[in-house]
Amino acid sequence: MTRYKINNLEEYFKDYKKSVREPKKFWDKIASENFTWYQEWEKVVDFNMAEADIKWFVNAKVNMTKNCIDRHLAKKGDKTAIIFEPNDPSEEALHISYTELHERVCKMANVLREQGVQKGDRVCIYLPMIPELAITTLACARIGAVHSVVFAGFSASAVAARINDSDCKMIITSDGGYRGNKTIDLKGIIDEALADTPCVTAVLVVKRTNSAVNMQEGRDQWLQPLLDAASDNNTAEIMDAEDPLFILYTSGSTGKPKGMVHTTAGYMVYAAYTFKNVFSYEDNDIFWCTADIGWITGHSYILYGPLLNGATTVIFEGVPSYPDYSRFWEVIVKHKVTQFYTAPTAIRALAKESLDYVQKYQLDTLKVIGSVGEPINEEAWHWYNDHVGNKRCPIVDTWWQTETGGILISPLPFVTPTKPTYATLPLPGIQPVLMDEKRNEIEGNQVVGSLCIKFPWPGIARTIWGDHERYKETYFSAFPGKYFTGDGALRDEVGYYRITGRVDDVVIVSGHNLGTAPIEDAINEHPAVAESAIVGFPHDIKGNALYGFVILKETGEYRDRENLSKEINQQISNQIGPIAKLDKIQFVSGLPKTRSGKIMRRILRKIAEGDYSNFGDTSTLLNPEIVEEIKNGKV
Ligand code: PRX
Repeated sequence: MTRYKINNLEEYFKDYKKSVREPKKFWDKIASENFTWYQEWEKVVDFNMAEADIKWFVNAKVNMTKNCIDRHLAKKGDKTAIIFEPNDPSEEALHISYTELHERVCKMANVLREQGVQKGDRVCIYLPMIPELAITTLACARIGAVHSVVFAGFSASAVAARINDSDCKMIITSDGGYRGNKTIDLKGIIDEALADTPCVTAVLVVKRTNSAVNMQEGRDQWLQPLLDAASDNNTAEIMDAEDPLFILYTSGSTGKPKGMVHTTAGYMVYAAYTFKNVFSYEDNDIFWCTADIGWITGHSYILYGPLLNGATTVIFEGVPSYPDYSRFWEVIVKHKVTQFYTAPTAIRALAKESLDYVQKYQLDTLKVIGSVGEPINEEAWHWYNDHVGNKRCPIVDTWWQTETGGILISPLPFVTPTKPTYATLPLPGIQPVLMDEKRNEIEGNQVVGSLCIKFPWPGIARTIWGDHERYKETYFSAFPGKYFTGDGALRDEVGYYRITGRVDDVVIVSGHNLGTAPIEDAINEHPAVAESAIVGFPHDIKGNALYGFVILKETGEYRDRENLSKEINQQISNQIGPIAKLDKIQFVSGLPKTRSGKIMRRILRKIAEGDYSNFGDTSTLLNPEIVEEIKNGKV
């Protein structure tokens, strides 16, 4: 028998072995016993790693929302599916039952259809963390429209680039959003983005802040009257297993963001299975993931994973510091949260504040606490363990990526003994390998290498929207036949994995995955800038921060460097979003380059970190003298 839920270490090892020896049998069982299908598959998996061609549950027919909502109605109709906790604690929280969620998703699905959205069309969703974000996303899934949720912190030009890349015909946004003590003008940002997006013909606007907004005749409509007029009777679209469910953009090492495409059946099975096991979910648990639905963590573990398991999931509109630093702990007590899932950057920020904030709350409903998005350092791990988990709740340090759809390496609570800073063991179905520079697999334990996965799993992204070649090149070419994660890892003496960080030009800042190239492109557009290079350097709270080395044009203008630094950051903010701003900017007269013209980022990284030892071989540089100059001018 294949278990849906693993209960102890022995079962884990048994299931893991089975999933490696007989992956088809393993996933066949999980998929057929735990979901509702219109039609089952002819083949469990079909793949060609060299071509990056992967299909799961071939020719099966399914609808995601039937599995997330409809099938729970008979037994769990009155159960709360979503708890909405508003930004302002004095505003009442909402409890949306499965029955109400069904009604609201059906109405929204009908509105989409009436507005001309059809199966396969792309819809961009740019909303704050309010119930409508979940409902519109699910409504897309119900009618087979491909949702592209864009995090509502991205700037107008970043949204426009994402809308155009996937040719979205509709945008769903709101009049504004609340975040802490700020009100954000989302509709204004969308208006600006739309100046540049000919593919968009309709904009639906949710009322949240009641701010005055511009509504363009013939293009923009308030959503509520359309919902009021819509029927709550909706037939879900029958989707093929491999029909795209959503596109989610992630940064790459080169300029353009990558629209990762996740398809329906494999993603569904993987999100559900990993949610159940990694969070040891039981009926009546209240699950809270503090991510934004605009990131993969929110897709898989606020929305799909919990709803597929008939769970209660919390949607939190606010921030950890508003009205004060006890907000997270207050919400846990208020809603009797049993699983809490957040990011190391939030833990570090809260650990800096007085312990009183957390100690005034009895967090005894908690059973499991989780971490995601970046390596969790030892100090943060212990603070989390001591003060939030009270040394009682296992910490699941979950390693995964936008591309992987769900968690790949993580302890299972009450099953896998945890070890600070270690993501520990792969989930069933996941075959990690460490590779050396010569592309050989490194055997044995106590070794370090580039982390690859050598067999596909159901949740892996299938392609990059509109650019399969780039997908192949980015993930399947560095180590032929394997999926390359872009991360480095070590395997300890018992086979536990610890993720050491990116080995490419992506920097994780406050848990946000930022490619350095698009930031450099943004800076280089400033009229005073000739060239730039960005690297990451360690930061107490953010994990990493960005350090920019900037060469100015020789016009002699822009003497006021302080002002210029501000303008450069403003430029980044406009083009990408405030999350990509630089912490430090150093103006330099040149950058260390190889004879082929490539910037030696390794050296810049060392300088930014303040580590002047061991620059490695600089004799191959075209301009070795620049290293000393940059070192001396470090900010
Ligand atoms: O470097 C790894 C880091 O985040 C990257 C993926 O970022 P993104 O696609 O935005 O997805 C984040 C949420 C799943 C990874 O390549 N990362 C994620 N989780 C961990 C991590 N690094 C160390 N430990 C983790 N638990």
